[in-house]
Amino acid sequence: MNVRASIVALVALASAGCDSAVIGRDAGDGTTDSATDSGGSDAASAPDSADARADASAIEDSATPAAVTWHEHVRPIVNGRCVTCHREGQVGPFALETLAQMRTFAAASLRAIESRRMPPWMPMQGCGQFAQDRSLTEREIDTFRQWVASGTPEGDPARAPMVEPAPTVSFRADLRLPMPGAYTPDFSRSTTGADDYRCFVLSRAVDRTLWITGYDLEPGVRAMVHHANVHAVPAASAAGLPAGAQGYSCFGGAGLANTRTLSVWVPGTPPTKFPANTAIEVNAGEALVVQMHYYRFMPGSAAPPADRSTMIFELSPVRPARLAQMVGPGGPGSFTIPARSSAHVIGGVWTVPARGTLWGVLPHMHKIGRRITVRVGDACAIDIPTWDFHWQQLYFYQQMGGIPVNAGLQTSIACEYNNPGSTPVTNGESSDEEMCGAPFYYTPE
Ligand code: HEC
Repeated sequence: MNVRASIVALVALASAGCDSAVIGRDAGDGTTDSATDSGGSDAASAPDSADARADASAIEDSATPAAVTWHEHVRPIVNGRCVTCHREGQVGPFALETLAQMRTFAAASLRAIESRRMPPWMPMQGCGQFAQDRSLTEREIDTFRQWVASGTPEGDPARAPMVEPAPTVSFRADLRLPMPGAYTPDFSRSTTGADDYRCFVLSRAVDRTLWITGYDLEPGVRAMVHHANVHAVPAASAAGLPAGAQGYSCFGGAGLANTRTLSVWVPGTPPTKFPANTAIEVNAGEALVVQMHYYRFMPGSAAPPADRSTMIFELSPVRPARLAQMVGPGGPGSFTIPARSSAHVIGGVWTVPARGTLWGVLPHMHKIGRRITVRVGDACAIDIPTWDFHWQQLYFYQQMGGIPVNAGLQTSIACEYNNPGSTPVTNGESSDEEMCGAPFYYTPE
């Protein structure tokens, strides 16, 4: 049996036990509701509008469960919110493209959706509004719940709504930097048996100043690449970097002091474009290192294939009006999370040095981080109530002009950890150490 087939079997099996309970409970609730037919269709029609997001009214208030069908209501949600990752050859461990596939994973999907584990989107609603928000609205979750409760009906394909194609991002591949060679992940390195964190030198010394305005990754083996972060390493530290195709082991960053994060790629996203007229500058002579996170859903499954991914940057030919820095609040230079502690909080502040703009934020902790909250002055800038190292990313604010800030404004961070272990955890870059930080994509005027 191949890996995908056995995953399908496993997840389906795990779901089967809960199927009847879910259906029984939800169907019971549903049948007591009033029976009009109006709410169903608009439940799925405007997943992106702020109105739909704000409107938490459940469709069970106005629709019988039988009114919710695959073609009319559920497929548009799944196509828009799941299939980017859950299709053949993508990072999701199984495809959700057809009704048959969706039925196999209906119960597991309902659980993943209700717990907001899927689609992966960590920021809490109501604190910051971010571009490319992947989360489902309460309405969409209700639609899915109703559909599962009423036995996953197919409905009439003729009633499928017209779906507008997603707008394409204009992106120029100005600089392509492949990994130095093919690399076969060694999952036995991690305690989970499912992760391999590895750094590769993409360039030992860039030959001119670069102004990066966007980035993308062309994964070699899409199903295995869970994130890819590029760091700039100052020339002085770059000399000792191991350059071969095998790279070197690293975890939270490039494994060296004084590096700067340039890009954070996660699967299932279009190319990232930095805000207009801004760029991150890389100096001639600096090295570029990519940290790859390889992941497999089923530890112990078949031998992994070799990967050779290519990092792609869009560049500005001239120095743009505003250069961005990745700076922001973080924990103290050294900190300790006591053994057997829970809800231990590390905090820090960063004072805006000059009038400018905050365009985005990159919250960062490691594995025992639980919650991370960032404030700009009195305002909530991002709140991640359930941290998952796997899904960290750079979040850009939805506001087209970013958040204007004045010199002297104080920003702050609170990182919360649970350390069930019998040894204290100190700060550092390796997987058994912790970090606390949230650099902003900040441009001074
Ligand atoms: C950005 C990519 C991405 C999107 C979008 C996404 N998934 Fe996933 N999904 C994954 C990955 C990767 C895993 C493997 C576990 C992990 O990495 O967290 C997974 C695992 C799962 C699992 C099994 C494990 C679990 O956590 O229960 C289910 C069920 C699932 N996804 C359903 C969905 C559904 C339903 C949607 C849409 C509403 C969705 N996913 C959207 C990437 C994605």
